[in-house]
Amino acid sequence: MEKMRSVAVLGATGLVGREMIKILEERDYPVSRLLPLASPRSAGTKAVFRGEEITVEAVSEDSFKNIDIALFSAGGSTSRKWAPVAADSGSVVIDNSSAWRMDPDVPLVVPEVNPEDIPRHKGIIANPNCSTIQAVAALWPLHVEAGLRYVNISTYQSVAGTGMKAVKTLKEQAETVLRGEAVRDDEVYPHQIAFNLLPHIGAFDDEGISEEEWKMVNESRKIMHLPGLKVSGTTVRVPIFRCHGESVTAQFEKDLSPERAGEILRSAQGITVEDDPRKAIYPMPINGAGKDAVYVGRIRRDTGLDNALSMWVVSDNLRKGAALNAVQIAELL
Ligand code: A2P
Repeated sequence: MEKMRSVAVLGATGLVGREMIKILEERDYPVSRLLPLASPRSAGTKAVFRGEEITVEAVSEDSFKNIDIALFSAGGSTSRKWAPVAADSGSVVIDNSSAWRMDPDVPLVVPEVNPEDIPRHKGIIANPNCSTIQAVAALWPLHVEAGLRYVNISTYQSVAGTGMKAVKTLKEQAETVLRGEAVRDDEVYPHQIAFNLLPHIGAFDDEGISEEEWKMVNESRKIMHLPGLKVSGTTVRVPIFRCHGESVTAQFEKDLSPERAGEILRSAQGITVEDDPRKAIYPMPINGAGKDAVYVGRIRRDTGLDNALSMWVVSDNLRKGAALNAVQIAELL
């Protein structure tokens, strides 16, 4: 018989936390008890799991007693504070924040790529950055065949990755602009996001490289165990609600034709190839939102680099980019 597990979700009232609860239910994860946790602000509100209303509790020192799995999506500082508490209580934490990802004692896992890292955990497992997950899911099977040498990625990232407040902001700003009025609110982002593009995700370092760009470099190397892989890119916030797109160029050690890459990706776990551009068939966020797959299309020879391919990769950042990946890790535990 399948082992039943008690599961806490910290950040249960947020966009990713809600998706986690939904996915536990959809995938019939063997939950004996679900404990939704958030800050004192949301204590007493309700989360719905398997048709039942469960009261959200404020996270505390006692929250993780008798909890087997703790799914965290409540931001970096909350995670830094509570993940060690949960791990000391005997829970295994699967953390969606960036707090622990580069810690050498913490496995950083995409189940289709490096499931073998999971057993090395010491109580905390990190879920990678959303943009990194979908990129490495598509790149890994190609690497196995032809050896990655260099990767360049430009991202088109939806506002859902910033959280609930950003989704509300985009909606309100879009309505304001369509009424012909000026947008004044720039609380969430440094500039208006509606009808705009912001090449700015996280803080910039002295060289002008953003935190999100460094996450893609460092996390890709760690997940694929390729510490010397050359990675570059530009991460951009775009005014869509949910689901990220990425333009990915990859250079390989060995020759890899677009046809062979398509074949490999068609048989790869978790990937759906949608690639018939002359019939206007390629992945799009409006189709990828709410789905589980990483969609790949526009697979073609790169016109500027030897032994290189370019492709377009789309995936729901709240699902495969966050909640689904975390639940898949829990399934493997
Ligand atoms: P709360 O509703 O109590 O603020 P999102 O990224 O969609 O905005 O969601 C963030 C999630 O993280 C929410 O569930 C939020 O709960 C939770 N959260 C934020 N700060 C804390 C904190 N200090 N302690 C516990 N949960 C937190």
